[in-house]
Amino acid sequence: MQKLIINGGKRLGGEIRIQGAKNAALPIMAASVLCGEEIVIHNCPRISDVYSAMRILTYLGCKAYFDERNTAVIRAEDISGTSVSDELMREMRSSLFFLGAVLGRAGACRITLPGGCDLGPRPIDMHLAALRKMGVSIREEYGVLDCRAENGVKGAKISLSFPSVGTTENIMLAAVLAEGVTVIQNAAREPEVADLAGFLNACGARISGAGCGRIVINGVKKLHGCEYTVMPDRIVCATYLSCTAAAGGELVAYDCRPADMESILPVFEQMGCIVHASADRIYFSADRPLRAVAPIRTMVYPGFPTDAQAVVMAALCRAKGTSVFVENIFENRFKHVGELCRMGADILVEGKVAVIEGVKRLYGAKTCAADLRGGAGLITAALSAEGTSEISDIHYIDRGYEEIEKELSSAGADIIRI
Ligand code: EPZ
Repeated sequence: MQKLIINGGKRLGGEIRIQGAKNAALPIMAASVLCGEEIVIHNCPRISDVYSAMRILTYLGCKAYFDERNTAVIRAEDISGTSVSDELMREMRSSLFFLGAVLGRAGACRITLPGGCDLGPRPIDMHLAALRKMGVSIREEYGVLDCRAENGVKGAKISLSFPSVGTTENIMLAAVLAEGVTVIQNAAREPEVADLAGFLNACGARISGAGCGRIVINGVKKLHGCEYTVMPDRIVCATYLSCTAAAGGELVAYDCRPADMESILPVFEQMGCIVHASADRIYFSADRPLRAVAPIRTMVYPGFPTDAQAVVMAALCRAKGTSVFVENIFENRFKHVGELCRMGADILVEGKVAVIEGVKRLYGAKTCAADLRGGAGLITAALSAEGTSEISDIHYIDRGYEEIEKELSSAGADIIRI
């Protein structure tokens, strides 16, 4: 089992290129199943979830590989199967996107319930209800979902009770080749949804309104291949800014997209950090002791993203004053709190509320990651702690961060992987 060893207390200084967005690349890779020609995806991050998606594509009979550092090539001319093994489904939540894509391509799909970070029950009721409205019959037996669209997938008008990101994307994947028009009311507005729509439209789909609350998909007969560049990862960017805020110092984050971070950047300014953003880079500095911030409520886009909660909380552990987080999206997304308290943080969790009393110092400790962003939060705190920290179960972190220890050590952190 690999671990990260971090000697805290080093100020950061340097430049970090922000990787392509995991939560855009994954649905885009699933969408390639819908295309009968070669797909080239640039700025695709080399993270374990992407390799999982490649394994699922291969299992379905597609070819999927990296032909350059961050360029993935996918060929789905003829998929040989319409089922995904339980083992592959359990590797990540994003395996669920293959349900919509394979149904859209072949009209049938057999999967088991997806895996992924344990952030609470994470049901898929909305995904299934939407697909049933599109003419898909779904039999659930012993955790196996046998889905069939006997007469092909049909367009439908679907109103979501909650703007679920995954549900919105799964509907889009099932709808692009469906017969007729699909309208998604109360759709998720996350930028990654718009990126998926951009990719599908580049392949000949007819999707409008992505990024807004109402998305219209006109079914087309087929999709051709395309070459597409994935958007920057706004959560990875928020992570490196949090690391710099926690450790102190200066960072230039480039190849990022500050326009996607309008609910995150002001929080760093409230902490006392300096943030200068241009179209694709952020000059960031944190020279003074941090200040506590006004209560942060995680919300759907364009509100403060739940994925940034752990890393921003870690940066606030030593901020002067009291900060409060309300986690409105997932039922169980404070698993990093116990580990932060082992490092000397003073955090009280009551239900979906976490109260952080700033402490003067944190101490290096042995900790373990329990999910992707919580693990990134432990790194953030360890960079600002006195002494040596050890973080185990870092496979969670590798799901979403490309060589995080190399990026941080290039900016002056004392961090190694063993
Ligand atoms: C996506 O997960 C992201 N993952 C998550 O990022 C992100 O935290 C989340 O959206 C919210 O922004 C990917 O894009 C691969 P949801 P997803 O459907 O699609 C409930 C990360 O760290 N719900 O918007 O699963 C659900 O339980 C990951 O990169 C239902 O009740 O999020 C949750 O409480 C973590 N029934 C809420 O909605 C359903 O059928 C939000 O879920 C579907 C969802």
